[in-house]
Amino acid sequence: MGMIDKVAKPQDVLAAALSDEMAAVSRLIRERMASEHAPRIPEVTAHLVEAGGKRLRPMLTLAAARICGYEGPYHVHLAATVEFIHTATLLHDDVVDESARRRGRPTANLLWDNKSSVLVGDYLFSRSFQLMVETGSLRVLDILANASATIAEGEVLQLTAAQDLGTGEAVYLQVVRGKTAALFSAATEVGGVIAGAPEAVTRALFEYGDCLGIAFQIADDLLDYGGSSAAIGKNTGDDFRERKVTLPVIKAVAKASTEERAFWVRVIEKGQQADGDLAHAMALMERHGAMEAARDAARGWAAKARQALMAVPDHPLRQVLSDLADYVVSRID
Ligand code: IPE
Ligand code: IPE
Ligand code: MG
Ligand code: MG
Repeated sequence: MGMIDKVAKPQDVLAAALSDEMAAVSRLIRERMASEHAPRIPEVTAHLVEAGGKRLRPMLTLAAARICGYEGPYHVHLAATVEFIHTATLLHDDVVDESARRRGRPTANLLWDNKSSVLVGDYLFSRSFQLMVETGSLRVLDILANASATIAEGEVLQLTAAQDLGTGEAVYLQVVRGKTAALFSAATEVGGVIAGAPEAVTRALFEYGDCLGIAFQIADDLLDYGGSSAAIGKNTGDDFRERKVTLPVIKAVAKASTEERAFWVRVIEKGQQADGDLAHAMALMERHGAMEAARDAARGWAAKARQALMAVPDHPLRQVLSDLADYVVSRID
């Protein structure tokens, strides 16, 4: 940890700098997540929303808009839209992944059931579209509608790539870009678009979000093996159990001996997992430097994210976005 224990986290610096607007975003989220007609909706959404969450994506939208000099009210709608889309995908993702913990709490699928999670997720998705329509910008609608389709594509691609040791880094990147980076890049891009920023700037904001999202997901995939459940608020080992072929696995499989390959085939392709297999998988990853290679990949994407910011107007928040790119990968140091 070292340095980051002593200085404020970039996400806290962002939260402080954007506190008025984030308060407005929270109000809007609370107002729109309710439903007069189906009490199950506020029960489920309150469970998830009150557990917190880092609110990274809405802060990215607000920061991008601010950096581009926006003075209107609609960045707040866009930030809330992005967090609604995120929350909807989390509800669906925990069903798909059969996960039991999220944001330090039992998941909605565990507390209620899969049906409630899927349907409330759909409700939040629809609410997100209502919110973005209020901005009156077709361009913004285009970006967020595309991102929503891309997220779903990424999750479906992952479904078919899981349990297949033939999955290489190119497919992994496509999955990660889709399921995670698409919303980060849409979040930053719409901030620039609503502010009427020049094309080169909105492109750079997109690029920053894309690279940041990829770095973020690689880090998340590393934490699923090496992190602490308490720190991430989710159970570790979920990816192994679900037989997901994430970057550390791909890198370890690439270096596997014949005997090690038989192990990977058994646990990932055949799904025959016993006590001690997760620990053995982690030992193989360490032996072949797979964790370190994946860390390096994440650091590379974070560096690319920082690089993209060079084409964004100079602004105090630009530095915070740059620090955020470092921070998301510092979680895995
Ligand atoms: C979780 O995202 C989903 C991934 C892309 C790994 P976050 O880690 O941003 O989730 P919250 O909103 O802070 O809980
Ligand atoms: C994150 O997927 C992306 C989405 C939620 C669409 P993961 O399944 O990797 O994320 P966690 O670990 O459950 O947060
Ligand atoms: Mg998941
Ligand atoms: Mg998932």
